[in-house]
Amino acid sequence: MHDLATKTDGGPPKPLRPPELSPEQLPQHVGLVMDGNGRWAQQRGMPRTEGHRRGEAALFEVVEGCLEVGIPYLSAFAFSTENWRRTPDEVRFLLGYSRNVLRRRRDELHARGVRIRWAGRRTRLWRSVLRELDAAAELTAHNTRMTLTLCVNYGARAELADAMATLAQRVVAGELDPKAITEDTIAAALYQPDVPDVDLFLRTSGEQRLSNFLLWQSAYAELVFVDTLFPDFDRVALWDAVVKYATRRRRYGAA
Ligand code: IPE
Ligand code: IPE
Ligand code: MG
Repeated sequence: MHDLATKTDGGPPKPLRPPELSPEQLPQHVGLVMDGNGRWAQQRGMPRTEGHRRGEAALFEVVEGCLEVGIPYLSAFAFSTENWRRTPDEVRFLLGYSRNVLRRRRDELHARGVRIRWAGRRTRLWRSVLRELDAAAELTAHNTRMTLTLCVNYGARAELADAMATLAQRVVAGELDPKAITEDTIAAALYQPDVPDVDLFLRTSGEQRLSNFLLWQSAYAELVFVDTLFPDFDRVALWDAVVKYATRRRRYGAA
């Protein structure tokens, strides 16, 4: 657990303050790979699913941390198009849990001014999960304080393949000239075209890979990998990553 300092020193708890950063120093969009739930549980002799359960609180810590520091876009990787390779029991748990968390938390997120969106592929995803995602998106559609995109049955290559298929159909229909296809045309065909590129790509659990998350959107993202397993992650750990981001010099190819 991150040292919250104040929990155990006996004195009155000091408020947890976000770092003071100017808007230019803050990432506008954080892409978060919530990894390490299974290992967290296994280290404690618990079933992997218990780690996923504990990840819920960590996710809401991150949402709160974003709200407090002023990050407007958070995309959280909850279930990948590759996670179907897990045991049927774990897949069932993960999808059922996503649905239940949404149902349980959507009013609270709505009250906090959070807009909930979904990015992913409909094919194969449970109808009950889609219903919950759609309901949450509809309820929160007009919130502007922050956008939380839940990536469920999401894969960046699937997203790009779907975008290419959409563009190909428009070409066949005579609506799009292939010569007119630009980076902007492709970006506009992604699942959430109006969400800006990822500034900070953050992954917990010590793994240093992208695992097919937001590949197009992260072309110039700053990568921050932290060793903390996701159930132990909290807003202070998020702020540490944001401070690390603020020290990076982004050059975008310029000298
Ligand atoms: C992340 O934790 C949650 C999902 C991928 C859904 P993992 O389940 O991948 O946990 P580890 O990486 O096996 O520890
Ligand atoms: C990425 O984590 C997917 C999610 C966090 C939902 P994984 O644990 O599935 O990725 P790999 O298998 O380590 O690459
Ligand atoms: Mg993992």
